Amino acid sequence: LFSPVEMAPRDPILGLNEAFNADNRSEKVNLGVGVYYDENGKVPLLRAVCAAEEARVAEQGPRPYLPMEGLASYDAAVQTLLFGAESSLLESGRLVTAQSIGGTGALKLGADFLYRLLNKRLVAISDPSWENHRSLFEAAGFEVVTYPYYDPQTHGVNLEGMLEGIEKLPEGSVVLLHACCHNPTGADLSLADWTRVIDVIQRRNHVPFIDIAYQGFGDNLQDDAVALRLFAESGLPLFISSSFSKSFSLYGERVGALTLVTESHDEMLSTMSQLKRVIRTNYSNPPTHGAKVVSAVLNNVELYAKWEEELAEMRDRIRIMRSSLVEKLAAAGVTKDMSFIERQRGMFSYSGLTKAQVARLADEFAIYAVGSGRICVAALNTGNIDHVANSMAAVLKD
Ligand code: LMR
Repeated sequence: LFSPVEMAPRDPILGLNEAFNADNRSEKVNLGVGVYYDENGKVPLLRAVCAAEEARVAEQGPRPYLPMEGLASYDAAVQTLLFGAESSLLESGRLVTAQSIGGTGALKLGADFLYRLLNKRLVAISDPSWENHRSLFEAAGFEVVTYPYYDPQTHGVNLEGMLEGIEKLPEGSVVLLHACCHNPTGADLSLADWTRVIDVIQRRNHVPFIDIAYQGFGDNLQDDAVALRLFAESGLPLFISSSFSKSFSLYGERVGALTLVTESHDEMLSTMSQLKRVIRTNYSNPPTHGAKVVSAVLNNVELYAKWEEELAEMRDRIRIMRSSLVEKLAAAGVTKDMSFIERQRGMFSYSGLTKAQVARLADEFAIYAVGSGRICVAALNTGNIDHVANSMAAVLKD
């Protein structure tokens, strides 16, 4: 039975963890996967999370199934976080939110739901995008194309190219967008840019699907969600995948959500009923722990404030690492202007390293980065940054 099964290629991101773990060199650094490590190189356990977990353990409650769409207090808190407490959408009866297995799970639920809903199964993703976007939508039965996004000259967004690309897509295409902290480039749209993107999406009757996996890692929780709020005001139906993996440092708990903005209360009811079928036939219902913890924090004023503070600490430390890397690269003899690293937002820097340079970093210096040249700045600390800067300088100079 299994003899015709061929070896699959390593996952371009998670496969790096395997290679990193198998490396015995003590100076090794994992700049591959998008995970925040603290100054000591550890994945932090946030104080707000710890407090919520302690209360949960003390409660010693039973462990029944959650509803298919997840914990109600969690789903409601997700909506508030996405749209803001003052949003009229919250009371509109038009929102559907289902707890999901991380942000990836939300994308998959959305993809499976859209597959049943649409005749034209075409998704456009940014060029470049998170590697798994293409694979996930292809696996769900969609044709995946790209729209221009990144301008390597300016290290920013090629807005005119993007607008033209989206305009040219067949009417009614699904357009996948990154709300903030674009993965992998760290190049984001401004408020004015978003208005133009929304305009073309609306004119072409496209279906917007917004991935927000890094809320809080750009400017702050509110400003990072500005695109969602603009889309909501436009009256367009909307798909949103969101995640607490990074913002709560709860990677392994797989806490995410799929949120849909429908056009009426009736639509909300029928959409939710169909989404529940998608959930039931995939994994029945979601796990409890992560959602309970996140809900406890989001629904408690003190814990929320503590969490926001910790999120700001992570964000600020990444910024310090960005500036430090730019300085150290120059000090190590890199003459090219690398200041774009400071302007990029979120966890990543799209460093411009070529595939061959990335391979050299791993082979010669035990530094693991994604083949596209994406490095996770959130994995740098004062203990490893010299090794990283000197090694990058060595491969950039040759
Ligand atoms: C990443 O881009 O590294 C993260 O989103 C983790 C993942 O699942 O790829």
